Amino acid sequence: MGSEKHPAYDDLAAQLAALIDREPDLVANTANMAALIYQGLPELNWAGFYFARDGELVLGPFQGNPACVRIAWGNGVCGAAASRGTAIVVPDVDEFPGHIACDAASRSELVVPLVTEGRVVGVLDLDSPRRGRFDDADRIGCERLAAVLLAHHRGWPCRWSLKSDLHCRPRCRTFSSIG
Ligand code: SME
Repeated sequence: MGSEKHPAYDDLAAQLAALIDREPDLVANTANMAALIYQGLPELNWAGFYFARDGELVLGPFQGNPACVRIAWGNGVCGAAASRGTAIVVPDVDEFPGHIACDAASRSELVVPLVTEGRVVGVLDLDSPRRGRFDDADRIGCERLAAVLLAHHRGWPCRWSLKSDLHCRPRCRTFSSIG
C-alpha cells in the first residue's frame, strides 16, 4: 500500500516548493500548503497547522471544519507530537487516550512536528474520516513536505515559539519584523 503513495508525495513536494518559492510570508505559505495537501490527498476531512506560542499550540492556517483554537503542550495527538518532537500516526482516534475531537467525523490522524534548529515550532495535522487512513508512507511523505517548508523559512519567527526557548531569544531581534 505504501510504495504507490511516493509519486503523490513527489508531486506534492514539487508543487509546494513552486508555491512558496520567493514568498517569505509564513501565513501565506502555510495557508497554501494546507490547501495543497487537502486537495491533493484523498480521504481527508482536515489538514492544517498549529503553531507553538507561549507554551501552547495555537491554530494556524487550515482546510476543513472550524477547529479547537488552543491545545496545551502535551495534550491530544497534536500536543503529544509536539512534546515528543516525533510524528504520530493514529490508526483509530478512539484508541488514543486524550485525543481531542475537534471534528466528530475524524477517525484517524497523522501529526508531524515542525522542528527547526532543535525547536518544535508547530505541527502539521491531518485528519481522515476513515480508520487506518495513514501509514508510514504518509508519515514519511508529510515529514518531507514539512522539511520543504522549514528549509524555506529558516528564520521561523521567534515570537511564535516557546517562552522557555532560551537559545532562540538572542535571534529574536533579527526576526522581530516577521510574523
Ligand atoms: N485531534 C487533534 C486536535 C486537532 S483537530 O484534529 C484539528 C488532537 O487530538 O490533538
